[in-house]
Amino acid sequence: MDYTFKQFIEDLEAITSASQDHDVITRRAAPLLAKLCGNPEAIPAEYRTAPAGQRGRYILHRGPRFNVTSVIWRPGDEARSHDHETWGLVGVVENEIQETRYVSRGARSLGGKVALEVREVLRHKAGAVSRLVPPHDEIHAMHNPTTKDTLEIHVYGKDLMGLQRHVFDADGTVGSLVSGKYMNC
Ligand SMILES: [Fe+2]
Repeated sequence: MDYTFKQFIEDLEAITSASQDHDVITRRAAPLLAKLCGNPEAIPAEYRTAPAGQRGRYILHRGPRFNVTSVIWRPGDEARSHDHETWGLVGVVENEIQETRYVSRGARSLGGKVALEVREVLRHKAGAVSRLVPPHDEIHAMHNPTTKDTLEIHVYGKDLMGLQRHVFDADGTVGSLVSGKYMNC
């Protein structure tokens, strides 16, 4: 039987009740997100496509301990290196995505600098899940280098909307990142 969105939420509730450790949560939840990614129908059809002229970003679940969104990257869409200020999981449902992972050292203050190094450049296909574990393994850059839309499910320990986050120049200079509204709320 297909793994449903409802079951995924119940499982995540159990995992995030049992532990607050970011590494433990993401390790336990990653295989479940991979399973969910195998069932695109688990996401309502209207949240699986990008609106005309924009990247898609929809909230699917809001809760006190985690939030789930769907994201649609159009061909050529990219996000420069950024952090999340919480744990995260990024799962690919359809097509593929390029993710550059960074290692950082140092406190992140706006206008300041951190030591930032590229750790690896990955190409994730459908079913792959990437884990973001703060404070020092949660910076990445994303790029859809293909000619098709890429559908992902993201899970974060906080609602990213309005959260003060950071973007990074190649030399480690820290800038401000605050995400606006989701397309469905
Ligand atoms: Fe991200």
